[in-house]
Amino acid sequence: MKAVYPGSFDPLTNGHLDIIRRAAKIFDRLFVVVFDNPSKTCLFSVEERVAMIRESVADIPNVTVDSSTGLLVDYAKKCGACAIVKGLRAVSDFDYEFKMALMNKKLAPELETLFMMTSLKYLYLSSSLVKEVASYGGCIKDLVPPAVEERLFQKIGNKLGKDI
Ligand code: PNS
Repeated sequence: MKAVYPGSFDPLTNGHLDIIRRAAKIFDRLFVVVFDNPSKTCLFSVEERVAMIRESVADIPNVTVDSSTGLLVDYAKKCGACAIVKGLRAVSDFDYEFKMALMNKKLAPELETLFMMTSLKYLYLSSSLVKEVASYGGCIKDLVPPAVEERLFQKIGNKLGKDI
């Protein structure tokens, strides 16, 4: 069985990585797919996000990292997936995720959306908070994989025109 784990991943956090590792144990193949979410202004390009994820999941053999500009359901059908995996942190995620799951169900009734609860230690973690902490020079070591930590400080340093 194949599944798709979609997201903006701007950037990948240890919370995302935890979901990837757990989902990869359930499915024969997991496609981690970077989409540009039009409602978000991303710090990293799609190519940069794909590269950081590829480096961070290099030790998980049944994970494929890709990007797409189309509909999630079309990608899932094209790769033969039967499920969409999404991570849930708190009740605040639920409304947004529920709406997307219902729309995807309307578009492709044969696809199931499976929600995985975040591990307790990542309950507070989000890409936007990581970017905010990093922009003030705070420690993000336990929050993101090493491939992301390095590139995030580089990117923010470049943006601010200084070394952080
Ligand atoms: O990490 P995010 O930003 O919450 O992920 C949102 C994402 C990428 C899953 C969503 O924007 C998406 O599915 N984009 C692909 C285009 C699409 O299918 N849109 C309709 C969703 S119901």
